[in-house]
Amino acid sequence: METMTGATLPGNSTVEFKQYPVPVPGHGEVLIRTKSSTICGSDIRAIYREHVGKGPEGYQGVIAGHEPCGIIERVGPGCRRFAEGDRVIVYHISGCGVCNDCRRGYMISCTSPTYRRAYGWQRDGGMAPFILAEEKDLVLLPGALTYTDGAQVACGFGTVYEGLEKIGVSGNDAVLVTGLGPVGLASLMLARALGASMLIGTDLVPERLEIARELGLADHVLPAGPRTVDVVRELTGGHGVERAVDCSGADAARQTAIRATRKWGKIVFLGEGGAVSFNPSPDIIHEQKTIYGSWVTNIWRMEELVERLVRWDIHPERLVTHRFALENADDAYALMAEGKCGKVAVVFDEELTRD
Ligand SMILES: NC(=O)c1ccc[n+]([C@@H]2O[C@H](COP(=O)([O-])OP(=O)(O)OC[C@H]3O[C@@H](n4cnc5c(N)ncnc54)[C@H](O)[C@@H]3O)[C@@H](O)[C@H]2O)c1
Ligand SMILES: [Zn+2]
Ligand SMILES: [Zn+2]
Repeated sequence: METMTGATLPGNSTVEFKQYPVPVPGHGEVLIRTKSSTICGSDIRAIYREHVGKGPEGYQGVIAGHEPCGIIERVGPGCRRFAEGDRVIVYHISGCGVCNDCRRGYMISCTSPTYRRAYGWQRDGGMAPFILAEEKDLVLLPGALTYTDGAQVACGFGTVYEGLEKIGVSGNDAVLVTGLGPVGLASLMLARALGASMLIGTDLVPERLEIARELGLADHVLPAGPRTVDVVRELTGGHGVERAVDCSGADAARQTAIRATRKWGKIVFLGEGGAVSFNPSPDIIHEQKTIYGSWVTNIWRMEELVERLVRWDIHPERLVTHRFALENADDAYALMAEGKCGKVAVVFDEELTRD
């Protein structure tokens, strides 16, 4: 039997390597040779430091990594669309396929307690040389995109695109992004592509502000603090931004996103966990503002996103500041946990030698 090494996260800020048989695809399944597997803030928040996730975020000790991209090595019987040699992104949650949410393409919120299993959470994910996936969870990766571009679509860029579509972003809008981790940086990139006429980003960590500046992703990059709301107002004629995206999950940043948004504006919360306190009457009701919550995306929107990325000539891999081989995955997670980085990728084969 062929075996492979996979990385798991025991929940004490370390990575544990284990041996697994290389899976054999069954009916409707494919075996993917992993090429790139990026690390998400959720991996750190809910699994790496401590297993704090519950329900859909409950980690079951499986091979980690919910942002995988690779090439199909073998197809099982009964596959209908994908074939050996297809380059694919894995939509990172496998749903039952027949509940209302799955039928809308939002397998993320599949209601089946038995069949909803996310890659890297409840079923084996991308931190191994091969992944067993269901054909229905795949999105074809266009030739113009790299595997590391694709890996980031699997969670981060898909999530951001959905959030921006919910609030609607166009050339009418100044957009504030709070939290400049990979999700926040992706929000700046996609908001610019959608036509936003002014982009403002804010974070507490100087290294993250520097990445946003260096990549030219924002018109204004602001250290987060008690004056942030005032500065955003000053930059926008005293009114505030039309749209805000919170990508921090932090109370203070969520408050900034709400208060720096002008009358009639829209705010979307992407950052997870924690709490937020605000004063409904002055902060939203009397100002006619709307706050949206948004969880990942649906699979058809993910297909549309990869098409748009090619048309816009945008490469998510620009956000990757560090690449690691699988055997150095412990360094990759430690770096992401420290937060002094852009996106961190674990890569294989030809993706190792790309810079
Ligand atoms: N809604 C979804 O479907 C979805 C999908 C993917 C990730 N997420 C969540 O999105 C968030 C961002 O993900 P990421 O990978 O970029 O994580 P990350 O932890 O790397 O980024 C969060 C950033 O917020 C910054 N921050 C913290 N407090 C702040 C404050 N008061 N003001 C400004 N910035 C502040 C941090 O310094 C950090 O740079 C996480 O909470 C993650 O779990 C949500
Ligand atoms: Zn994620
Ligand atoms: Zn379902």
